[in-house]
Amino acid sequence: MSSYIIEGGNKLQGETYVSGSKNASLPIMAATVLNKGISKLYNVPEIHDTQMMIEILKNLGCKVIKRSNKIVIDTSNVKNFEIPENLMHEMRSSVILAGAILGRYKKAVFSYPGGCDIGARPIDLHLKGFEKLGIATEKNYGKIICKADEITAAEINLDFPSVGATENCILAAVLAEGTTKIINAAMEPEIVDLQNFLNRMGAKIEGAGSNIIKIEGVKKLNSVSYNIMPDRIEAGTLLCSAAITGGNITLKKANAKDIAPVLDKLSETGCVIQLEADSINLKAPKRLKSVNIRTMPYPGFPTDMQSIIAANMCIASGTSIIAENIFENRFKYTGELQKMGAKIRIAGNTAIIKGIRKLYASRVIATDLRGGASLVLAGLAAKGKTQIDNVGYILRGYEKLDKKLNSLGAKMELK
Ligand code: EPZ
Repeated sequence: MSSYIIEGGNKLQGETYVSGSKNASLPIMAATVLNKGISKLYNVPEIHDTQMMIEILKNLGCKVIKRSNKIVIDTSNVKNFEIPENLMHEMRSSVILAGAILGRYKKAVFSYPGGCDIGARPIDLHLKGFEKLGIATEKNYGKIICKADEITAAEINLDFPSVGATENCILAAVLAEGTTKIINAAMEPEIVDLQNFLNRMGAKIEGAGSNIIKIEGVKKLNSVSYNIMPDRIEAGTLLCSAAITGGNITLKKANAKDIAPVLDKLSETGCVIQLEADSINLKAPKRLKSVNIRTMPYPGFPTDMQSIIAANMCIASGTSIIAENIFENRFKYTGELQKMGAKIRIAGNTAIIKGIRKLYASRVIATDLRGGASLVLAGLAAKGKTQIDNVGYILRGYEKLDKKLNSLGAKMELK
């Protein structure tokens, strides 16, 4: 597995840009299956997860051409309705294809995605939503066989505002008879992007971004082009890299409103933030102040930024309390930060971080995507050479992270 070698201690300065959103690209790539035709997607990040989604689409019978951040998907000859088990386990978010395949073909076979590095990741809410839409879900030997004679509109109450379950119910309902209503829907910006893409194709969806989404079924969709929204978690990660190194950076192609809770918290730590039309400037204080964080569904503080801001709090003045309310196992990275001298104690779903003056360069292992990003930031702050192993996790979700950070004055090498 590859590693990052980081020579830390430099203040990050200058300007870089935010790539397209991983978590908007994946459901939108899946949504192309609903239309029998060609979709052109721009600003798709070149990362492991979008490459995996391309492989799965090809496995279903799609023709996919990728040129850098542009992907052309021809779904005219989809002939397979099963998501291969190995690819499901490789990338659990491929479960999002189930809703799209069902929406168009009324049958789909997939396996339980299985847990991952941050929690059990069940899909009970996805299956409950499908069943409300008249889809029979039969489970045997780890596979889930879904089929319906007709998909009929329904009122779906989600027990929890699950992002994936909201997206899967939208996809399954786009071509259904009647108007479906999702109550207690997730409100993440990526769902607004999915709604915008689907409506561009001719769907009739309203309410994304609120907790009630209405999908009026349509008969047909058409081929479109679409530009994916910027990645709000990458934006937050890059801003935190400047905050932790006492730097001053400007992010282009960033959408500040998507990360308002993160910007608010960074201001609380003493960072000065200035917003332009599509850019964000952050100037770090001499030393960050500690803050308390509670991760919540959007528009609360995003769980995907939890480990990343935790790295910053390791060298802040004072003690920070971080409560993780979304996933049950999202503190694995703290053991690696402790190897770098961090004073972190875990009590249930809460991390108590006592700020210290400096972290120590060390050899550490990425435990998951965002936990790995947290180690990168710690390595940037620690004087000396930090080696991070297992960076395949990080390459899943960040496009050219080393190149972007090096353009800001970091000394980081992928080996
Ligand atoms: C999406 O995952 C994101 N992934 C995650 O980002 C993100 O952390 C998460 O939403 C929350 O914002 C993609 O969009 C590809 P959920 P998802 O369903 O859809 C429970 C990253 O780092 N739940 O909102 O899987 C679940 O266990 C990734 O980019 C059920 O109980 O998240 C969790 O505790 C990590 N039953 C909570 O809901 C279900 O059927 C939130 O999960 C579904 C979910």
